[in-house]
Amino acid sequence: MRQLVREHQLSAADLIQPLFVVHGARVEREIGSMPGVFQLSVDQALDQEVDRIRSLGIPAVLLFGIPASKDDVGSENFEENGIVQQALRRIRQRHPDLLLISDLCCCEYTSHGHCGVIREGLVDNDATLEILGKAAVSHAAAGADIIAPSGMMDGMVASIRAELDAAGHIDQAILSYAVKYASAFYGPFREAAGSAPAFGDRRQYQMDPANVREAVLEAALDEAEGADLLMVKPALAYLDVVRAVRERTQLPLLAYNVSGEYAMVKAAAQQGWIDESKVVVEALTGMRRAGADAIITYHAKAAAGWLALEGGS
Ligand code: PBG
Repeated sequence: MRQLVREHQLSAADLIQPLFVVHGARVEREIGSMPGVFQLSVDQALDQEVDRIRSLGIPAVLLFGIPASKDDVGSENFEENGIVQQALRRIRQRHPDLLLISDLCCCEYTSHGHCGVIREGLVDNDATLEILGKAAVSHAAAGADIIAPSGMMDGMVASIRAELDAAGHIDQAILSYAVKYASAFYGPFREAAGSAPAFGDRRQYQMDPANVREAVLEAALDEAEGADLLMVKPALAYLDVVRAVRERTQLPLLAYNVSGEYAMVKAAAQQGWIDESKVVVEALTGMRRAGADAIITYHAKAAAGWLALEGGS
């Protein structure tokens, strides 16, 4: 009876697994604050992980590259042989039908850890757009199906669309991190990606957690600029924002269940204080109920496994 009258479904097909790729050979380095999540080198280490993801029925991965060296403008983000480009080519060849999403932010690649080019202590929005355009074309050429700009620069979607089209990448879609809050829940990610800002914080470009009207506005602007999919991030403390955006756009909407949300669940589960699989499935179902079509989550693999067990019982 409960199955028959269930209002919202959650399945592996709704999940996207983030991956961190690094230089080196046979690297599988676990991230301290994210047990079960690894930095992987672009060789058998990555192959094995992606094979597992695919066999669980997860349709997409979101790639983050950790460069060999960082500089002012984050050059490795648009180098033909950058780490993310290598990973995209390798996965594309091995799994032609896996959807490849690449995160376009500069913060993992810049020496100062900010999401753009710095001028006089602040991110220069328009100078950053040029870099993002180059990086988008480079990721698309390496095999990305979806380019995901995460830096919250104004005008980023329109300018990336124009650059992709000019380079002939007309079929690549744009997933905009349209609604991204300046959140303390990103803490563990910054350890995973080595991307903590060297000075200041991200409040110049990320949103105030107190605002929801602004979220609707940001989503509408990105839609008008040509975004194909929109995202709200983080997820758990922002389910009302997911709902508000859902009600005002017809575009597919994603929620990003971020690193701090993962770390909290892991820590409590390790203490034996909560039942990890039940808590995760409940939280992800809540995100679907709030209006997310798909969810980016570090729990994707584990959740896909638990859901398969549930379905089989
Ligand atoms: C890059 C980026 C961040 C995350 C995704 N892309 C970090 C940030 O903005 O500081 C966070 C993801 C997570 O916490 O899981 N800008």
